[in-house]
Amino acid sequence: MSNQIPEEVIEEIRKTNDIVDIIGEYVHLKKQGRNYFGLCPFHGEKTPSFSVTQEKQIFHCFGCGKGGNVLTFMMEIESFSFYEAIKFLADKSGITLPDSGIKQESSITQESQSILSAHGWLTKLYHHLLRYTKDGKEGYKYLKERGIGDDAIETFQLGFAPNVKDFVAEFLIKKGFQKQLLVKAGILSQLNDTEVTDRFRGRVMFPIRNHIGKTVAFGGRSIKEQEPKYLNSPESELFQKGKLLYNFDLAKKHIRKVNEVVLFEGYMDVISAYQAGVKNVVATLGTSLTEPQAKLLNRYVETVIICYDGDRAGLEATYKAAELLRKNGCSIKVARLDSDMDPDSFIQKYGSEAFEDKVIKASETYMSFYMRYLKKDFNLKNEGDRINYIENILKELAMIESSIEREYYLRELSNEYNISIEALSSEMYEYRQKQGIPRDNQQKNRYTNKNTIAKRNKKLFPAFYNAERKLISYMLQDSYITDKVQNEMGAGFNVDDHKIIATHLYAFYEEGHSPDISLFIDRLNDDRLKQQVIEVAMMPVLNEISDREINDYIRIILNKANDSVNIKSLKEQQKLAEQQNDPLKAAQIAMQIIEIQKHLKNPN
Ligand code: GTP
Ligand code: MN
Repeated sequence: MSNQIPEEVIEEIRKTNDIVDIIGEYVHLKKQGRNYFGLCPFHGEKTPSFSVTQEKQIFHCFGCGKGGNVLTFMMEIESFSFYEAIKFLADKSGITLPDSGIKQESSITQESQSILSAHGWLTKLYHHLLRYTKDGKEGYKYLKERGIGDDAIETFQLGFAPNVKDFVAEFLIKKGFQKQLLVKAGILSQLNDTEVTDRFRGRVMFPIRNHIGKTVAFGGRSIKEQEPKYLNSPESELFQKGKLLYNFDLAKKHIRKVNEVVLFEGYMDVISAYQAGVKNVVATLGTSLTEPQAKLLNRYVETVIICYDGDRAGLEATYKAAELLRKNGCSIKVARLDSDMDPDSFIQKYGSEAFEDKVIKASETYMSFYMRYLKKDFNLKNEGDRINYIENILKELAMIESSIEREYYLRELSNEYNISIEALSSEMYEYRQKQGIPRDNQQKNRYTNKNTIAKRNKKLFPAFYNAERKLISYMLQDSYITDKVQNEMGAGFNVDDHKIIATHLYAFYEEGHSPDISLFIDRLNDDRLKQQVIEVAMMPVLNEISDREINDYIRIILNKANDSVNIKSLKEQQKLAEQQNDPLKAAQIAMQIIEIQKHLKNPN
């Protein structure tokens, strides 16, 4: 698997990519004791059982059992092949991979790789044309007029597709790309049976990058009255609108910092906001928010600030997105814009500071939004409508966990509609009861589920089993202890897997390695063993352990081995006694066996 890339290179790549940083780009991690915890990205969960240790450079989910090192993580999360994971991390830390003789296995088809490469070239070409050539002047002028500066043009690699019949066709075909493939990728259009033409012409080009920063499609905006306003690349294996979020790759680290993301409807909004200094921003790609996008966001971030157009359609889309995000576990806030505004036009008109202070920081809670949103369906001057409206709000309020928040909105309703807070409150509690919510539903902190983790792991194992695991966990981080164990008991572990792991460890240290769990699991070629090692490595152990404790473990393990030998020989003696028609002797031996078995289960 890894033998084509020198081991030192892999090791260097692992050493320069800290697992907490890398995973932190995907999962919101919180430090708790020595480990970091977060919501597992590999299975749906509401309380975090996904843990990462920095010292050991490994991760493990106590919920679904997935675990490994930084390479395994990248392979799992991005569906990378081993080579792709290495390449990705190498790029991140500026390490150049030796390319001689390395077969570049990949998780995407040859065709998609080729399309990816064409998009890479095109991104550069369009950008170059915009910035430095006469052909691109009108595109550059258009962006300048819309207030987009050179920095943003650079960051987002904005470009221009000149209004020439086959500028791109010629460029890419000369580079060796196949005509038909380019048509399929939506870069060229078929003009007639034999001729092709550039699909994007006279448009400002927005490269659409996937979550690791590679261009997988383009959006082209017309700069005159040409229809449609935006022309996008067609869907493909690489480009699935419903799964991508525009600018997610750049926004990731900013999102993680503030644990909030701002969600827009358009690319221009993202670029404007980014330029204004609000950088934790992403956008859907011309469709409504989808479930995969909501799930993706929930994996990274607690709060999503929805910032859509201020018009009617924007309000409806906000409601839909809010429901979907809430269903998928996100907290939401809603940023408000006047009805004739979108985020980009607000920034152009009022500036960066106003956008940050009056729109983003002033965004309303879901409940405030809902109260505003629902009003459109009711004529609140009419008493019947008003009661109906209030009941709807109370139903929604009943679902809110925080009693302080509930109280706040009850007061607001009470003031606005002149109804006593007691009346409102008692009706809301009725709804809560109907929902089966207990009265004193204490708010649980997402990060205080230590007990459940501990409970889940606390199966009742015999003492020798626990001793073996403890010993291995110390051996994983200490070659001196390993030496001692090797001398005193060799491969004398009772559990087969432990025996194998110990043997691998002896070899590992004999080769001159220092303790390095992440490297060690890389070298085990059996997934079950890897999981075992990770589980054991995740067990809390003391920093300093006395020789006495080690000796105790060794004694427990060897005793069990002796006991097993004893039971075996006793059973033979018992059989013999029965054959010799000596029931008394057989019964005595049976008693002895039971004693030993009891001792095995609970030796102390
Ligand atoms: P500007 O008019 O350039 O400011 O764009 P906008 O961001 O205000 O766009 P708008 O609110 O009209 O649309 C939001 C998003 O929908 C855009 O970013 C595009 O992704 C998409 N979109 C808009 N118009 C079209 C269209 O005509 N065709 C397609 N395919 N997508 C569009
Ligand atoms: Mn706009």
